[in-house]
Amino acid sequence: MDEAGTVYGYAVAVDPRGRLRYGHVDGRTAEFHPLWLRERAPDPATTDPQTGQRLIEAADIPLDLAVTDACVENDGVRLSFSDGHSTVFSFAVLDEAISGRAEERRLWGRDLTPLPQADAQAVVTDDAALHAMLEALDRYGCVIVRGLAATEDGMSPVVDRIGPLRRTNWGGIADVKAIPSAYDLTMTARHLEKHADNPYRDPIPGYIFLHCIVNNAEGGDSEIADGFAVAERMRREHPEEFSILTTVRPRFRYVDETTHLEHEGPLIELGSSGEVFRVRYSNRTETVDALEPDVLDPYYRARARFHALINSPEMTVQFKLGPGDMIVMDNYRLLHGRRGYKLETGMRHLRQGYVDRDTLQSRRRILARSHKKAVS
Ligand SMILES: [Fe+2]
Repeated sequence: MDEAGTVYGYAVAVDPRGRLRYGHVDGRTAEFHPLWLRERAPDPATTDPQTGQRLIEAADIPLDLAVTDACVENDGVRLSFSDGHSTVFSFAVLDEAISGRAEERRLWGRDLTPLPQADAQAVVTDDAALHAMLEALDRYGCVIVRGLAATEDGMSPVVDRIGPLRRTNWGGIADVKAIPSAYDLTMTARHLEKHADNPYRDPIPGYIFLHCIVNNAEGGDSEIADGFAVAERMRREHPEEFSILTTVRPRFRYVDETTHLEHEGPLIELGSSGEVFRVRYSNRTETVDALEPDVLDPYYRARARFHALINSPEMTVQFKLGPGDMIVMDNYRLLHGRRGYKLETGMRHLRQGYVDRDTLQSRRRILARSHKKAVS
């Protein structure tokens, strides 16, 4: 690197194409495109200080714009551009740009014991406890909250701390218990294989809040698996099957007398950096189109592998919710099911609600501003 400046181990330089070369103190290096830097220049001529929104028209920036000079200035980098603009980026902003959030995930299998936990009273009364709960949920994809009232709306004090419930055609908080007129297999006592909830909705519910009122029947244990860990294992061990599951887009469907819901998407959905962004597995509601047999053949083989891994003992954590317990699950990531239970031996009555992804993530980010210490 032709260094234009160094401080505290950081190094900055401009390459022959007018890009910024940035050397992080920890040894990582990155290149920044001049337009990427120019369109988000953190000065009041470019970015509104109050709203943080862009003031200039990004599409009007010359495509041949170049960084002409870079030098270390205090705790950041002063940049000059070929359009005559000059601005200062802090090291913190550039560092954040090159660190991926995927690094903060913890993938897990049956060794995730105990499950991440939070105390309901603390979460309701203390922002730091709520933040720790939401960070654990973000890192592991699930958290158990203990100490809720074992009453019909006992989850409300915790949910109200996060944001509004998503209302669906089933209402807000809905019963999960065996009833004679079941409109979904959830409302029976049968074993439920692991699945993501409601992939036929658009948007798919982001988070599931599953609260236990009574669970004294024989059986009825909960089972969960980390869908991201399963997907990464497929990517590692069976890359062609992994690829098939990221490209074939089955349709998911729910139909009753008053509702017809449909949505489509791959069983493994990737984000812009190739990271696993969302998994879908819902045997009950998947309806793949009648594609060419040469496409369906490898799809069915890959789907069978995915299913076998999701339900393998080594990827499964099994536990039993008790009265006043609630599990909160990332429905983009976790696959959940339950063991069958015997109605003649007792009762199993859970209640469930959904919170949208943007609602919960907004709450987590706001709390992070003042409560940086996360669950480890
Ligand atoms: Fe479910």
